[in-house]
Amino acid sequence: MRAVSKFDDVTKHLRGRQYRWLVTGAAGFIGSNLVEALLKLGQRVTGLDNFATGHQHNLDQVREAVGAQAWAAFQFIEGDIRNADTCVHACEGTDFVLHEAALGSVTRSIEDPQRTHDVNVTGFVNMLVAARDARVKRFVYAASSSTYGDHPGLPKVEDTIGKPLSPYAVTKYVNELYAEVFARCYGVETIGLRYFNVFGPRQDPQGAYAAVIPQWVAAMIGDRPVFINGDGETSRDFCFIDNVVQANLLAALATAPGAANTVYNVALNERTSLNGLYHMMRDLLQERFPHLQGAQPQYKNFRAGDVRHSQADITRARELLGYAPTHDIAAGLREAMEWYVQHLAIAS
Ligand SMILES: NC(=O)c1ccc[n+]([C@@H]2O[C@H](COP(=O)([O-])OP(=O)(O)OC[C@H]3O[C@@H](n4cnc5c(N)ncnc54)[C@H](O)[C@@H]3O)[C@@H](O)[C@H]2O)c1
Repeated sequence: MRAVSKFDDVTKHLRGRQYRWLVTGAAGFIGSNLVEALLKLGQRVTGLDNFATGHQHNLDQVREAVGAQAWAAFQFIEGDIRNADTCVHACEGTDFVLHEAALGSVTRSIEDPQRTHDVNVTGFVNMLVAARDARVKRFVYAASSSTYGDHPGLPKVEDTIGKPLSPYAVTKYVNELYAEVFARCYGVETIGLRYFNVFGPRQDPQGAYAAVIPQWVAAMIGDRPVFINGDGETSRDFCFIDNVVQANLLAALATAPGAANTVYNVALNERTSLNGLYHMMRDLLQERFPHLQGAQPQYKNFRAGDVRHSQADITRARELLGYAPTHDIAAGLREAMEWYVQHLAIAS
């Protein structure tokens, strides 16, 4: 029998007590999965999003997944975190903030550093000020493994970082500095979660800045070539969305001494090369899509700003939050592929 985990305790607590949560970036990949998990636990949730990269269809899928009764506890604000008044309005009466809204993608940030800065830094400070003034219980925010930058050490340990390799990485590191300072100067409780290559249902396969797994699965199903930047031996610690949802809820409710006002790696402590990932995905899809049998990727130049290897040490999250990932990459990919087959095959 599986031992009772910290996450079991937290979900049990939430089933018995209703809080008010604000999820920014609620129409995006991670945000919509957080909204879904919270509504299923009987929580009241406000979502804030300006649909810059998120979609109404993500919210529609959440509504379908949770049912009418739970959905009635959801309120949506279409708005921009670059607007301070919007952030103040969204934070009113909030117990916990899960701040996910940002412009992701290293490549986008190299092409448009100013907009990335406005959203990821100015928007972040707006949210921190609003959370401070609303006296929220805790402000949990999406940090990033990109903060490790050029530091070669593996696995990555929270306190040892290198120089940032992109404007995106700078913004995510500045978030951490602001969060720390808001804790120190104003007593706001913050927790940063450094996500490492998250994947799962609702991650957007479209657009120039799509993440590798959804981009490849769309190409594979659509019988288009899959391109790998570099030689394919670049590696990542791919983390399934359920692990990220778990980390967020644990972070919001963590009570261990020293748990707040710090940052945590959120991943698996495993490393998968892009070549390895390609073969896992192809093997999962080729039964239903016979054109993939024997398919091979095409190799392109390395991409600017990309880190060569990435792997998280997750000791701190295990010890202070009770984080215990439920899905390894194989289990996560099986669930994600199932979702993409259902949704992309219909769309194409
Ligand atoms: N997906 C990953 O692998 C990963 C890794 C590290 C960090 N992160 C961080 O996690 C968070 C969520 O990422 P995601 O993968 O769900 O991306 P996403 O693009 O699906 O979600 C981001 C959401 O924020 C919204 N948004 C953007 N600008 C906004 C603005 N100005 N005002 C209001 N809403 C705005 C978008 O419309 C979108 O719905 C981001 O902060 C991202 O930097 C993600």
